[in-house]
Amino acid sequence: MPGGEIDFDHFAAVDMRVGRVTEVDDFPEARKPAWKLTIDFGPELGTKRSSAQIIEYNEQQGTLPGFVEGFTNVARDEHRHVAFGARFLRDMVQRDERHLSAIQRTLAEVGIFETTDIQERLDASWEHTTMQFEVLFDQLLKQRTDRLAVEPEDLETMVEAVTIYHMVVEGMLALTGQHFIIQYNEQEGTLPGFVEGFTNVARDEHRHVAFGARFLRGMVGRDPRYQDAITRTLGEVLPVADGVLRPKFRDPADDDVPFFGTSVTEARAFAAKALERRMKVIGLLQAA
Ligand SMILES: [Fe+2]
Repeated sequence: MPGGEIDFDHFAAVDMRVGRVTEVDDFPEARKPAWKLTIDFGPELGTKRSSAQIIEYNEQQGTLPGFVEGFTNVARDEHRHVAFGARFLRDMVQRDERHLSAIQRTLAEVGIFETTDIQERLDASWEHTTMQFEVLFDQLLKQRTDRLAVEPEDLETMVEAVTIYHMVVEGMLALTGQHFIIQYNEQEGTLPGFVEGFTNVARDEHRHVAFGARFLRGMVGRDPRYQDAITRTLGEVLPVADGVLRPKFRDPADDDVPFFGTSVTEARAFAAKALERRMKVIGLLQAA
């Protein structure tokens, strides 16, 4: 948000509406399983057409309405993160032409703009990720989302997916990265505009994680087998997540050596503490 912290007026200005899904049609041309929806937003806005993935279909089926509402807000936050980045870059380019070449140089460096072909871009960006990153997203998370695509009512898989995405990917990995990137820039006094914006992004991320924790707490209260599902999933995913915390170019022998102000050991401890806090919220760990 411009001007720093989001206050209540900003919050109140967010347009949150509930629509009634009146029609669901197949959407065979979509790359991910999706439906075409007709949504009635009442007399003021009328009927709108939209495409939706599995989550909205659940809503239409009358399952997990709270989850749908929360996840819609999470998706909206995610869009704001991207919009913030785009606006920051636009401002920088307008301020000085040299920034444009800096952006192009950086994108070429991370393998995004070396080509205009999307597949080649993806292939190039994969070169910078670790094997564990691929296992986490393309195997462990994908198994669950694939399953939910065919069986949206499978709550145990939903619990596993939320455990992986909200607790581990966002709660342990994204928030840890955001924390140390912000801390480093604050210490160095560099990129103040970026720090301010990224602090807002991190604040949103906390809300996503809190939403996931609340969902899981509710599920644990409903049936003890969901508690087993969370524990089992964490056992499977945590060793992989640990590998994601170490950049590809870092030697495991150097885990205690700071890099941009933080060692892998420190990042690991921070992530573990974050998970511990969530587990207390969910009720899987006794509060101290
Ligand atoms: Fe997020």
